[in-house]
Amino acid sequence: MLKVGVIGTGHIGRIHSTVYRGDPLAQLVAVCDVIRDKADAFAQQFGARAYYSVEEMLKNEPLDLVSVTTAGPENGGHHYEPVMQALAAGVGVLCEKPLSNDIALAREMVQTAREKGRYFGVNLNHRFVPLAARAKGWVEEGRLGELCFANMALWIANRNDSAPYFHLRALHPHSIDVMRYFCGDVVRVQAFFKKASHRQIWSNASINLQFANGMVGHLTGSYDMTTRHPFERCEVAGTAARFVLENVYERLTLYPHDSDETIVVSNSIMGGTASFQETFKNRIHRFLEQVEARVPPAEIDGSGREALAAQEVIEAAIRSFESGQVVEVPAIAG
Ligand SMILES: NC(=O)c1ccc[n+]([C@@H]2O[C@H](COP(=O)([O-])OP(=O)(O)OC[C@H]3O[C@@H](n4cnc5c(N)ncnc54)[C@H](O)[C@@H]3O)[C@@H](O)[C@H]2O)c1
Repeated sequence: MLKVGVIGTGHIGRIHSTVYRGDPLAQLVAVCDVIRDKADAFAQQFGARAYYSVEEMLKNEPLDLVSVTTAGPENGGHHYEPVMQALAAGVGVLCEKPLSNDIALAREMVQTAREKGRYFGVNLNHRFVPLAARAKGWVEEGRLGELCFANMALWIANRNDSAPYFHLRALHPHSIDVMRYFCGDVVRVQAFFKKASHRQIWSNASINLQFANGMVGHLTGSYDMTTRHPFERCEVAGTAARFVLENVYERLTLYPHDSDETIVVSNSIMGGTASFQETFKNRIHRFLEQVEARVPPAEIDGSGREALAAQEVIEAAIRSFESGQVVEVPAIAG
């Protein structure tokens, strides 16, 4: 059983802690927050020891893994320090997205994990659902034929107006990751953004993407919508068929070009994905499973490297919007 700590006891730290408590592969032994009352309340709720500094926790607890569920500027500005502390102490990390609001720090985190040979996963939870795995199987089996285009949409309501590119950096690690999961690396982007008139930030985005395999793609994103109605959709099309994955885990449809019949895979109400929180459960369990099985750190699903690749696409989109140019996405070192 893997000994786990959770750093950052906010809303998302509570979801991670609840998942660890219920997973047979994990034992949640410690929780940490710089706000003492929050750490104490978590410790009581989850039957773990409370710490108020990451250093103290790492010194006193023989941990295998930590979840870093801090937030900070653009929801990622506080991740760097605890991630680097844990990696230096020989502890594997599952970090929340975005890796950082600063791409240079995100690169450093991924490089450090690689050099030290540590487990470094990221909570790219949207793709850790059975329907996405089924669709990925269709791609790998060649059911779609030669891959041609992809269309992605992800929008929610988020009124936070704290930084011009908050919407891009905080939300779209998920949408770009889902596109990369099916279509591979992105090599070039071109972006337009819109600020809703009541907002201070670029709360809407339209991004064109070109993939290394020659596919073309598009992402529509927004913080001005709602999750009351379907909020995520991924369509991938090839020369033989096209699939549409609706609302993360609700419904997957395959449209073969040579038939009037479609294949529909619906989320089962009996034993299917019960709520969005289950995407966390699936993702965290996969991380625990791969660490327990000693899968080489570079080969884990939803790795820091994959999260960095998505973050590089977002930063390239920001540069494209600012310059009015098509921008090359840098390849990930190592
Ligand atoms: N994967 C998803 O679907 C999803 C959804 C929403 C949010 N998130 C991500 O989850 C993360 C956390 O979000 P939240 O809303 O729970 O944040 P939050 O601000 O509510 O909680 C973060 C906590 O971390 C603590 N903290 C900060 N620095 C610390 C440090 N060095 N040591 C110990 N504690 C520290 C803060 O005191 C705070 O209590 C963000 O990165 C966000 O982007 C992910």
